[in-house]
Amino acid sequence: MSAPYRLTVNGVERAVEDAWLGESLLHVLRERLELPGAKGGCEQGECGSCSVLVDGDLVCACLVLAAAAVDTEITTVEGLQPERGDFTDVQQAFVDEGAVQCGFCTPGLIMSVHALLDEVPDPTELEVREAISGNLCRCTGYGRVLAAVDAAVEVRRSGAVR
Ligand code: FES
Ligand code: FES
Repeated sequence: MSAPYRLTVNGVERAVEDAWLGESLLHVLRERLELPGAKGGCEQGECGSCSVLVDGDLVCACLVLAAAAVDTEITTVEGLQPERGDFTDVQQAFVDEGAVQCGFCTPGLIMSVHALLDEVPDPTELEVREAISGNLCRCTGYGRVLAAVDAAVEVRRSGAVR
């Protein structure tokens, strides 16, 4: 069954036409709205590579029905850019600290860290580890990511918030 509906993604209302109503938000973002930032890894809510914000809450887009996200504000990694082409402070910290690992885990980690720092500006290491515990990496580990979070916290402390 299909029916047209509209989603608000990164502050822009977008039409979704001819979509099966059982499609996940991840599928609609990537395949219908041409927003490939959220990645499809496990598609079972286990890896965090598809993390997006729905009304400010971090969710796995693979577990959310797109049609159920009507009347919410959806933010993807593409929508974090302060200005087109710019990095956020968190993205810059990932680059500076060598935490940009593979293209699958990085967007989800960036979303998780933004969600964390918006709630907890100066998290403990335990809080950071808990916040990124849903973002699985089986390759390189989390050391550089923890360093990047520390660097982003420092930048925010210094007042250069993006
Ligand atoms: S693709 Fe959604 S959690 Fe893995
Ligand atoms: S999954 Fe991305 S570096 Fe391991």
